[in-house]
Amino acid sequence: MPTAQAAPPDLHQTLTALIHGRAKTGKSLMAASLTKPLLYLDVELGAQFLPMARRVWDPSTPIPRMDGTWDTAVVRCTSWDDAEAALDQVRSRAHPFKGIAVDSLQALQNRLIGKVAGPTSAVEIQQWGEILRMLQNFTEGLRDMTNHKRWPVMEVLVTCPTSLRDGTWGPHLRGQMGIIAPYLFDLTGYLYVEDEFNRKTNATVQVRKLRTRRTKDIEAGERVGGKIPAIYTLPMVTGTPEEVRKANVTFRKLRADVYRRVDGAPVGIAPPVPSEPPAPPASPPPSGGPAPDVPAQPVTPTGTATPKETTNG
Ligand SMILES: Nc1ncnc2c1ncn2[C@@H]1O[C@H](COP(=O)(O)OP(=O)(O)OP(=O)(O)O)[C@@H](O)[C@H]1O
Ligand SMILES: [Mg+2]
Repeated sequence: MPTAQAAPPDLHQTLTALIHGRAKTGKSLMAASLTKPLLYLDVELGAQFLPMARRVWDPSTPIPRMDGTWDTAVVRCTSWDDAEAALDQVRSRAHPFKGIAVDSLQALQNRLIGKVAGPTSAVEIQQWGEILRMLQNFTEGLRDMTNHKRWPVMEVLVTCPTSLRDGTWGPHLRGQMGIIAPYLFDLTGYLYVEDEFNRKTNATVQVRKLRTRRTKDIEAGERVGGKIPAIYTLPMVTGTPEEVRKANVTFRKLRADVYRRVDGAPVGIAPPVPSEPPAPPASPPPSGGPAPDVPAQPVTPTGTATPKETTNG
């Protein structure tokens, strides 16, 4: 049996995050960008499209050995039990992983509802309590892997679709979990896509951005002392699958930024950002088409930065 050892110092430089956003904004690609080796809980069953050196792992079997052919172990979670079995294994035995991603928490909640209430039956009131307890325990257990005494990971990321609830766009989860989930992570980010006009190339390109501060209608926030800008522009990741795989290090870079800025700097107070930015001007994009990131709801999570807000651009 391996003996308990203090984790190397860099393993304490951890970052946990919940990223929510509308469909096709880049949540899964960001989940694939964690430091390798990565454990990827693929609940939406879409990992086959992601640029990764994957090895599918059935969590009822031992953790696969690192043999140089893969850097991401993908667990295809067709049931709640698959996710639970994977987490149980990494909690209870030596593993190679530096990051764990769940794509998505909403799909996992659905699998759990299917387990507790049956695939077709209505959920009874007391079952909602059980579903909340099990999902919260799982999510906290996942997050606490960053503080595991023997086999810690550095990064944990969960993705979630977004939806409007009581006037706020937040993680699309049933019941109380939608309210609790943002409290559980260091960072809650709202991912969105914006059209930007590039004067040099005279072309409009889609840019992906992560909003890390709350607005009156978007759930977001951070507890890393303001070390991540209010609007974080994601690197554009393009090229051949191999190039994309190598360049896709967004989350790893985010974590590095958090700790790079802490070192030697006075720790703690986030720079102020306006709590309720004014609505952006309603100018159509150069194409004249509809605004790119505005859903057909009365309240729109544009995620647009105001001039005063900090950005990394
Ligand atoms: N940073 C990026 N640079 C370039 N392309 C990106 C980037 N992020 C995502 N994309 C592209 O956008 C598309 C959607 O990405 P992805 O599948 O990660 O989105 P998603 O939010 O997980 O979608 P869904 O809601 O369907 O799960 C993909 O073709 C992906 O390659
Ligand atoms: Mg996805």
